[in-house]
Amino acid sequence: MAYLQTDVTKVTTRVLQNMKLHGEKIAMLTAYDFSMAQLLDRTKIDVVLVGDSAANVMEGYKTTLPITLDEMIVYASSVVRAINRALVVVDMPFGTYQGNSKQALASAIRIMKETGADAVKLEGGEEVLESIQRILSAGIPVMGHLGLTPQSINKFGTYAVRATEEEEANRVIHDAHVLEEAGCFAMVLEKIPAALAGRIASEVKIPVIGIGAGSGVDGQVLVLQDMLGITQQFKPRYLRLYGTIGEDISNAIRQYISDVKSQDFPNEREQY
Ligand code: KIV
Repeated sequence: MAYLQTDVTKVTTRVLQNMKLHGEKIAMLTAYDFSMAQLLDRTKIDVVLVGDSAANVMEGYKTTLPITLDEMIVYASSVVRAINRALVVVDMPFGTYQGNSKQALASAIRIMKETGADAVKLEGGEEVLESIQRILSAGIPVMGHLGLTPQSINKFGTYAVRATEEEEANRVIHDAHVLEEAGCFAMVLEKIPAALAGRIASEVKIPVIGIGAGSGVDGQVLVLQDMLGITQQFKPRYLRLYGTIGEDISNAIRQYISDVKSQDFPNEREQY
């Protein structure tokens, strides 16, 4: 590839736009804590998302709905302290932006001021347009999120693939254009047919990051713990495993227990 942004010292929204322009794919992963974020910072990851999937991964909830703004701010500020190069995006949690654009702006300002993140992400299209516009008017970059929007799980009742029917597909296309025209710098498309996602990525000028949305988009995002094999029960079709870290951790802990019980640990060199 002729054009690579791997040399940039800080990824900005403009860098991401350039990557789309030059056909360089964007790699995005989630992080919720300082230690994992430090590992990400040693790589050339482009975007780190402090996702509200923290509700599932870090807090054990079945949905993303219970996580609070205060909790997201703790996770996000831990991540920001570790990240130097990647663009850090923070999810606005359920109930902090829907239906009240002034509250949306206040929530986004808290995220930016208290975490030092670079941008916020929120779920939805036309129905949250006023909130998006108000946040953008304060100079805060917004990433959209369409398709499967987990904060609406109680409306849809399932995490199955979305927009397989023409009516919903047209709605997603419409909303993608609404997000672009509003001024979002990028959007996530989650769990929709690859052909639909590819069509949207080719129609809009802003980067489209997919999760379960095929290869025709401008980048990919996965939940870090899922792709590392730490969250072992979650196995959607789109997930590729890049490690068996969960197993490695359990084995290391088993070995530690065994060494403590057998008095192999600590040995003479491991004491004072
Ligand atoms: O919360 C999250 O981790 C997300 C990604 C799955 C895109 O929104």
